[in-house]
Amino acid sequence: MSLHIIILAAGQGTRMRSSLPKVLHPIAARPMLEHVLETAYALSPAQVHVVIGHGAEAVRTQLAAYPVTWVSQEQQLGTGHAVLQAMPGIPDDAQVLILYGDVPLIRAATCQLLLDALQQADLALLSVALAEPRGYGRILRTATGQVVGIREDKDCTPEQRLIREGNTGLMAVLARGLRAWLDNLSADNAQGEYYLTDVVSMAAQDGCVEAVIAADEHEVAGVNSRAQLAALERVYQAHQAQVLMDEGVSLADPARLDVRGRVVAARDVFIDINVLLEGEVVLAPNVRIGAGSVLKDVVLSEGVEIRPYSILEGASIGAGAVIGPFARIRPGTVLAARVHVGNFVEIKASQVGAGSKMNHLSYIGDSEIGAGCNIGAGTITCNYDGANKHKTLIGDDVFVGSDTQLVAPVTVGSGATIGAGSTITKDVEPGALALSRPPQIQRNGWKRPRKGG
Ligand code: UD1
Ligand code: CA
Repeated sequence: MSLHIIILAAGQGTRMRSSLPKVLHPIAARPMLEHVLETAYALSPAQVHVVIGHGAEAVRTQLAAYPVTWVSQEQQLGTGHAVLQAMPGIPDDAQVLILYGDVPLIRAATCQLLLDALQQADLALLSVALAEPRGYGRILRTATGQVVGIREDKDCTPEQRLIREGNTGLMAVLARGLRAWLDNLSADNAQGEYYLTDVVSMAAQDGCVEAVIAADEHEVAGVNSRAQLAALERVYQAHQAQVLMDEGVSLADPARLDVRGRVVAARDVFIDINVLLEGEVVLAPNVRIGAGSVLKDVVLSEGVEIRPYSILEGASIGAGAVIGPFARIRPGTVLAARVHVGNFVEIKASQVGAGSKMNHLSYIGDSEIGAGCNIGAGTITCNYDGANKHKTLIGDDVFVGSDTQLVAPVTVGSGATIGAGSTITKDVEPGALALSRPPQIQRNGWKRPRKGG
């Protein structure tokens, strides 16, 4: 039996007060709908149908990478009407799983419980025990516990409102039955909508309905407002932190780490407070990341120390290197083992050899620097002539004095020394001393200008 997943994502999300369609609002920097799609594809479905309406074009464009069957619902006449729009593309002998684009944290394992329940039932709904069920459809059961229907909050009697078992909206159902029940829906209710929830009483009359009770309230929580979005972001981040700690990472404060991507971490990594990890981050054993640092798409080798408030992106850092505080490493940078990069140093698209040091106030761009070099404070590679970028090539064991400009393209041979304050415009031979500095002058008994004099 093939699995078809329908994701409802046509609603406007009025309470977000946004020009962005609700399902594109991000959790951990990815649209909510993308989280649901990832979960959906983890179940190996035959097809995923996404029902879109408000902001349909933006949603399709943003998620174009997924092989989704887009279904348009011009007018939002209710959840039952939304599901109906997808039915022409679904064969009678399929299992149908219905998810919501604004319930982003649903896990594949929970979906699988619903699908497993279809072995005994024609329809399996996911319910949740709620302390505050206001706004939710309520699960109606007989005295013996058999589910007989769902009553929407606005249609409930005062007694029904006291029911604490809420409908998450997610369900698994056999396509043949679903098609027949949807055909019998009416909009004769408080909201004048075609409620998907009304198929539950029809299914109960025809045969057997199962309810799976969700273990975790957050997993089935929907987002209707920015406050709820922020709350689920914290839930998601708490989970990421827990996973890292389970893998052997120490966190100074699990509530002050944010992961917006994928982190692969070895044992005994330490991450201090207020760190942001984005994209693909790989952390080898004994890496330490200082407070306030932002790392995106980086590989840190064994024992790397990132000191506080450093920003690294698109870089690979060799074992035992020390970066920061206040360093900026930009894309295309590869630092070998034991490189030291200190405060207010910016490095872009450059390779630096083992043990080289640049500890203060420098810009290194489009450069290749060998091993064992000392790059003095205030060294600038002038890599841009206003039109093109040029390379600076520095050999091994080079000493660059402070406040040096290296005007690229330029090559400095191994073992060379550059005197402080030089502007180097020509290649320097290996082992040579290069110096470009006006001779010092001296006027003895110099009279300084005085005010009023
Ligand atoms: C729905 C359920 C309710 C459940 C609650 C859980 C119905 C009738 N009610 O109510 O039992 O407790 O979810 O959050 O199903 N959508 C469309 N097209 C439409 C209408 C809705 O795509 O025409 C989408 C929305 O974008 C949203 C989802 O369906 O993602 C749920 O719609 P919403 O209007 O939020 O349903 P609720 O009234 O919250
Ligand atoms: Ca809702």
